[in-house]
Amino acid sequence: MSPSVPAVAYPRNRLRRNRTDEWCRRLVAETTLTTADLVWPVFLVEGTGQRQPVASMPGVERMSIDLMVDAAAAAADLGIPALALFPLVPSERHTDDAAEAYNPDNLMCRAIRAIRAAVPGIGLVGDVALDPYTSHGHDGLYRDGRIVNDETVAVLVRQALTMADAGVDVVAPSDMMDGRVGAVRDALEAAGHDTVKICAYAAKYASAFYGPFRDAVNTGGFLKGDKRTYQMNPANGREAEREVALDISEGADMVIVKPGLPYLDIIHRVKERFGVPVFAYHVSGEYAMLKAAAERGWLDNDRTLIETLVGFKRAGADAVLTYAAPEAARLLAR
Ligand code: PBG
Repeated sequence: MSPSVPAVAYPRNRLRRNRTDEWCRRLVAETTLTTADLVWPVFLVEGTGQRQPVASMPGVERMSIDLMVDAAAAAADLGIPALALFPLVPSERHTDDAAEAYNPDNLMCRAIRAIRAAVPGIGLVGDVALDPYTSHGHDGLYRDGRIVNDETVAVLVRQALTMADAGVDVVAPSDMMDGRVGAVRDALEAAGHDTVKICAYAAKYASAFYGPFRDAVNTGGFLKGDKRTYQMNPANGREAEREVALDISEGADMVIVKPGLPYLDIIHRVKERFGVPVFAYHVSGEYAMLKAAAERGWLDNDRTLIETLVGFKRAGADAVLTYAAPEAARLLAR
C-alpha cells in the first residue's frame, strides 16, 4: 500500500474537505498544466498564401511557409515552446530511394530556415522518417517485400544532418528502425552539431489512430500494407521499456510515447523507470475523436481537451505534442 493512503478513518478524515473551494483545490493540485508543456505539430505545403484545411482534423490546416512563419510567431506569442514540422511533399518527389529527404532545399529545410530567421526564440523539431518521401508511404526503404533496416538508417542520417544544417533544434526519428538514434547522434557530433537534440519516438506503436495524419501528409492512400514490421505491437509494454533503454543508451535526449491516451501506462512506466524527459503524442486520431464528438455537441471541447492534457501530465509526461496546442494555450491564458 502506498504511504499516502490515510491511516486515519472517516469521519476524522474526510477527503472532500480539501475539495470544498476553488482556492483549496488549486492549492492541493498534484499536477499542473501550462503552455510550457505544449509542442505544436504542424503541416507544411508548397506555395505561398496556401491554407488547406485537413478534413479529418477540424481546425487543422496545412500552411505554406509564409503563413507558417506567421503561425509560428503567433505560437511564440502564446508561449508555446516548440513546433514539430511535417511536410506534405508533392507526389512527383516521392521516389523509391527517398532522395528528397536529404535535399537541402526541400520544403522542410526551407521552412526551418524561414521560421528560424523570423521567430528565433521558438524551438523547431524536425521529423526523421522517410514516409513523406517514399513512393510506397513506408518510413524506410522497401526491397524484395520488406523494409530494410540498415540501408534506411544511412538515409535517415543524411536526412537528420540536412535538417541540422538548415538550423533545426531537435531531430525526432519517428521511423522505428533499429540503431538509428546512435547513428544519427554520432553523425551529428562528427558534423559539429553537438547542441542539436534527439527526441526519439522510442515507443511508437503500429496504431490505427494515425489515419488522419496520413490524410494530412497524403501518405495513407498509397501505403503498401502496414507498418507492423517496425512499429510496435500495441500488446507490448515491457518491450517499450527495452526500446526506451536502447534509445537512451544511443544518445536520445528526450523520448516520445505514441499514441497517447491508449498508452498512458507506458508513459508512466517510462517516467518511473528512466526519469528522462518523456513526451506524449496526442495523435491525429485522438484529436479527431475529440473534435468529432464536440462538433456533434456530445462532448464539451474545452473541458475534455484540458482534462486530456492534464491526464498526460499526471501519467508522467513532461510535455505533450498536440494539434490543439494553440487552442489549449488560449484556454490556459484565461
Ligand atoms: C510517420 C509519422 C506518423 C505520425 C508522425 N510521424 C504516421 C505513421 O507512422 O504512419 C503520426 C502522427 C499522428 O497521427 O498525429 N513517420
